[in-house]
Amino acid sequence: MVSISTKKILNHKLFKTIKMVIEECGIESYIIGGFVRDFILIKENSKDIDFLCADSGIKLAKLLKKALVNSSKIKIFKNYGTAMFSWNGFKLEFVGARKESYNFNSRNPVVEKGSILDDQKRRDFTINSIAISLNKTNYGKIIDPCNGIEDIKKRILRTPLNPNKTYNDDPLRMLRAIRFSSNLNFKIEEKSLEAIYNNVNRINIISKERIVDELNKIILSPKPSLGFLILDKTGLLNKIIPEVSNLKGVEEVEGYSHKENFYHTLEVLDNISLKTDNLWLRWAALLHDIGKVPTKKLIPGSGWTFHGHEFVGSKMVYKLYKRLKMPLNEKMKYVQKLVLMSSRPIVIAKEIVTDAAVRRLVFDAGDDIDDLICLCKADITTKNQKRFSKYHKNFELVTKKIIEVEEKDRIRNFQPPLDGELIMSYYGIKPCEKIGKIKESIKEAILEGKIPNNKKAAFELMKSIGKELGLAPANEK
Ligand code: CTP
Repeated sequence: MVSISTKKILNHKLFKTIKMVIEECGIESYIIGGFVRDFILIKENSKDIDFLCADSGIKLAKLLKKALVNSSKIKIFKNYGTAMFSWNGFKLEFVGARKESYNFNSRNPVVEKGSILDDQKRRDFTINSIAISLNKTNYGKIIDPCNGIEDIKKRILRTPLNPNKTYNDDPLRMLRAIRFSSNLNFKIEEKSLEAIYNNVNRINIISKERIVDELNKIILSPKPSLGFLILDKTGLLNKIIPEVSNLKGVEEVEGYSHKENFYHTLEVLDNISLKTDNLWLRWAALLHDIGKVPTKKLIPGSGWTFHGHEFVGSKMVYKLYKRLKMPLNEKMKYVQKLVLMSSRPIVIAKEIVTDAAVRRLVFDAGDDIDDLICLCKADITTKNQKRFSKYHKNFELVTKKIIEVEEKDRIRNFQPPLDGELIMSYYGIKPCEKIGKIKESIKEAILEGKIPNNKKAAFELMKSIGKELGLAPANEK
């Protein structure tokens, strides 16, 4: 018997209006899907609400829209008997109860009218098939024929039908399973896992945008490795991001072996996820070592090297984003930059931390310096406690130095203390290579700590470089 009280949510003004409308029109209706799932999970109530109607969803949507003032324009999908509109921050979607049959090459179903039970069974997971009645006779009653509540209690993901059918019909559900498992820390039922494994090639019919959407949600999980381990186990990772699954394994030749870079990567991703919800910083953690696969080389008598893996990795980011049809925008450049710079602070931390090295680091990283340091700290996965605390201490030192140097020299968003206009007017010349040389030498001198980052020092340096370049001030000509 279900003893969950639905009174709390049904008290909301929205449901009071819905109740009135339904009482009047008599359309048998239920709330279903993620809203109910999250309510039972006692997660914050979602603002996306799915309504299931025994008749067409369009009719109820139109009536409700009239009753709710200030709602958005209604969108109607006649072929599917669905409609949606927004009201007061809520996204309301209405669907008529249906059976579905699928064409092999598409995840768009052929829709046929069905009972409420048919509709609950055609859904992806039992936890998403639970309905709350909005009807007069049993208002607020939970209707759960697939035992979704039991599965929520057991923290298990089960499909209402044979999982082979559920995933074969709509392969996006394989990723949804992994996303729910990763987000909620639910176990995917064994036969469901097997079905994902068997249907892995079906992912080819899913659009890249939808795949990335689910991937992003997995990456944003509290502990993303949970999802990535399942992606890997089922073979989906190799289909979607082979760059990451190729990191798997340790090669041992002539007694030399190297770090296992796949599990290391997942640890880095988990570490960074404890610190930030920044999706793109998490992407950078996921991809920071992908360049190690093509650059791996055994140097006889010395060991394995991954020379230049950061540069190669940053180039791979572009190809990966392009293949997954992800936007090739500033966010991608940010990920590339972090991958490219991912070893820089580590190198600095290993050596004596000089001001000049820190200034160059801050100059190159700009506003992303804090994220870069965050990534590098997450990259410390050694199990040797002594080394672990030594590396962290070194980073504390680098961080301290960054603050000091920043206070002194303001390198982070470096603006040249003398602009080209001023230099040109001083010498009375037009833009030319010599102006560029003067500007570059001033920048270099500041980064090297030879002069402070101010106008006066830069002006003095300009005069001596100008002389070397054979330039005379305009007022002396
Ligand atoms: N659904 C499904 N198969 C899919 C997508 C959705 O069976 N591939 C069903 C599920 O019952 C789901 C409901 O449609 O709960 C609503 O889908 P959607 O709004 O996309 O997802 P939610 O589960 O509500 O939640 P989330 O936003 O977390 O995905």
